[in-house]
Amino acid sequence: MSSNIAELEKRRAAARMGGGQKRIDAQHAKGRLTARERLDVLLDQGSFEELDMYVEHNCVDFGMEATKIPGDGVVTGSGTINGRLVYVYSQDFTVFGGSLSERHAQKICKIMDMALKVGAPVIGLNDSGGARIQEGVASLGGYAEVFQRNVLASGVVPQLSLIMGPCAGGAVYSPAMTDFIFMVKDSSYMFVTGPDVVKTVTNEVVTQEELGGAITHTAKSGVADLALENDIEALLAARDFIDFLPENNRMGVPERPTNDPWDRVEPSLDTLIPASAATPYDMHELIRKTVDEGDFFEVQPNHAGNIIIGFGRIEGRTVGIVANQPMVLAGCLDINASKKAGRFVRFCDAFDIPIVTFVDVPGFLPGVSQEHNGIIKHGAKLLFAYAEATVPKITVITRKAYGGAYDVMASKHLRGDLNYAWPTAEIAVMGAKGAVEIIFRSDIGDPEKIAERTKEYEDRFANPFVAASKGFVDEVIMPHSTRRRIALGLRKLRNKQLENPWKKHDNIPL
Ligand code: HXC
Repeated sequence: MSSNIAELEKRRAAARMGGGQKRIDAQHAKGRLTARERLDVLLDQGSFEELDMYVEHNCVDFGMEATKIPGDGVVTGSGTINGRLVYVYSQDFTVFGGSLSERHAQKICKIMDMALKVGAPVIGLNDSGGARIQEGVASLGGYAEVFQRNVLASGVVPQLSLIMGPCAGGAVYSPAMTDFIFMVKDSSYMFVTGPDVVKTVTNEVVTQEELGGAITHTAKSGVADLALENDIEALLAARDFIDFLPENNRMGVPERPTNDPWDRVEPSLDTLIPASAATPYDMHELIRKTVDEGDFFEVQPNHAGNIIIGFGRIEGRTVGIVANQPMVLAGCLDINASKKAGRFVRFCDAFDIPIVTFVDVPGFLPGVSQEHNGIIKHGAKLLFAYAEATVPKITVITRKAYGGAYDVMASKHLRGDLNYAWPTAEIAVMGAKGAVEIIFRSDIGDPEKIAERTKEYEDRFANPFVAASKGFVDEVIMPHSTRRRIALGLRKLRNKQLENPWKKHDNIPL
């Protein structure tokens, strides 16, 4: 018996060494943690239960039969984050560069299947050179098995990807199909093909960082959601983030105690809107003053800053926040903002997370580039997402709600449950200047007349009461009572029942 135990200990120790001390040191020298160290930070202490520690690859080509490392480059299992169950995989770069073999893929698939069966989130810590080159098509098949499960799990359990090293080829497509991606600055990369291939094919010279670093993907491409300073920060951010999410699409949002009074009044909000309609203000202030304890987890803060998305809590229960940001592009909806918010609204709807929308939007962004790049189709994504969403939807118009963007931003007509406006709201087809120049074109040469017409238009539409008189706004509320109104609304909507007609699935304009 004791020799059996000794054998077990020996095998466990071998598996824990991954690709060996030299490669572990190299990983540390790059400022990165190992696969197991990362799990130690991510999960509650002592909660990790590993599976498949002794799995080895089955490749017999290129001398691979002589190099078998227990675990085969990925550590898999389950654990808890603040007491809630999650399934995890953590790729081990010290073993064949974390590359994905058939068996490595099987390990990931096993925990994904378990997560789906029991309804728990899947968190992938990705650090992989992509398909295991020596295995050829077996590895490609392995990737496709993972992809298939990403799709089946989408909308059933939350899927979060952390990119923690150079991820190439297949190693980026699985994360791309998950709900959120966090990256580590100056340490993680995502590309379909790396700089060398790019140079060969297109003759472009680009560094790994420029091509697929954390800043590139969180600011420019919008592929990733957050860029964190280092491994530890990324893992701790993942812990905070998971706390906001439901375990699955049937459990409802998590609830936690809060000391923040539900009816907290915020007098400072009464002066948030500047006197001049052309002066911006920071919508973050309204968000932070509305959610519990000012705790707002913003997603994609550096991409399409004209719209803000993220999670907060009201009375301890998670809400998704979508808000126009007047400080960037005056809060216009453009292609990137529509895509960013559309996907977020769909995530919230899939996981029964109520959506609170703060509106200050002068319209869709005009321009040749926007039109040629398909603002019609991309703008329709956000419209579609709001219209199909059946979760509780509460909307607060703070200032402008103009044109098609008024319709899009969770308006009453898209089944908004409670649509509030501040007294400063202006709800119209367009701003006064543009409107007057169109409907009173013949007066354009007469500045006095134009000023008169503009005032007339403003008096008529630069307020929330026309919309309120039609029932499109349910109530004009005092800014200081926004939190109280939202909290009351969410209480009433807790048992909301609304279903869309049966269909196989919809056909959102992709
Ligand atoms: C097998 C691999 C590997 C791979 C890296 N290694 N990638 N082994 N298959 N895909 C091994 C290396 O041989 C090396 O082994 C160790 O991992 C570390 O790699 P280095 O190159 O020394 O590390 P680094 O300099 O940090 O560069 C990391 C890297 C680079 C950028 C990821 O290794 C790289 O470009 N790898 C290939 C990427 C790639 O083209 N993958 C295939 C994509 S195609 P030793 O023994 O020396 O430690 C694909 C198809 C799926 O994924 C598509 C589905 C849609």
